Amino acid sequence: MVEASAINEMFAGIAGRYDLANHLLSAGQDFYWRKKLAQEVLRSQPRRVVDLATGSGDCVFSIAKALNGSAHVTGMDFCPPMLEQAERKKKALLEKKPKWTTCLREVDFIQGDCLELPFSDGEVDVLTIAFGLRNLEDRARGLREMRRVLRKPGGVLLVLEFSQPDTWVRPFYYLYLNYLIPVIARLATGKPDAYRYLGATIGKFPPKDALEKEFLEAGFDQVTSQGLSFSIVAIHRAEVLGS
Ligand SMILES: C[S@@+](CC[C@H](N)C(=O)[O-])C[C@H]1O[C@@H](n2cnc3c(N)ncnc32)[C@H](O)[C@@H]1O
Repeated sequence: MVEASAINEMFAGIAGRYDLANHLLSAGQDFYWRKKLAQEVLRSQPRRVVDLATGSGDCVFSIAKALNGSAHVTGMDFCPPMLEQAERKKKALLEKKPKWTTCLREVDFIQGDCLELPFSDGEVDVLTIAFGLRNLEDRARGLREMRRVLRKPGGVLLVLEFSQPDTWVRPFYYLYLNYLIPVIARLATGKPDAYRYLGATIGKFPPKDALEKEFLEAGFDQVTSQGLSFSIVAIHRAEVLGS
């Protein structure tokens, strides 16, 4: 596993072009994935939501739009340049789209580490983490921390992550991932290595059943998953049921 400091540095290097690369490389599917994540958050009718590894904040904005000011939403990341992008986007939305005022009145961004969450036990109703779990230096520790800060009973962790695509899609997908993405990423960000890292981490990320076992080991009680876009990505829902 790559060290946290190297991951932080890598994301700092691509922060300014991160959104553009996301939209290009996913052919715009990332908007749909975040919308589905936000719908899952809404299902839980939360009062307190934290989006971990929030990056440039796009999940926070989707969630805030879905909740329309009914819950406090915090975006947390350990990489300051990514958080600067998130703050910049929040400011631009407030200035240029006043109808966002209600959605954003309960939104903030903070710096913090997923391996040592700056929240007390049971403080959070819903945690989300999109394309972040794969990047944690110690995933088991991160999951235990997530379980700790969730309300019990009723706390929910929603993980949006790359998954194992449907069989017939796989040859095309892996060609795209390993050969085309570094080329497009070089044009969009000038940092193809960060996107070679993407291919490597997707390959090493556990399949659904192994991931489910990791959630249960971290203390979650029930896990369900839904694949999106031919299961190129999945939303995993890990719930805390006990008292
Ligand atoms: C691929 S980006 C995902 C950003 C965003 N969630 C999205 O959907 O676009 C991964 C993010 O995880 C953050 N990250 C990685 N390890 C972290 C950690 N231990 N604590 C906090 N943030 C972390 C990185 O700084 C980066 O912004």
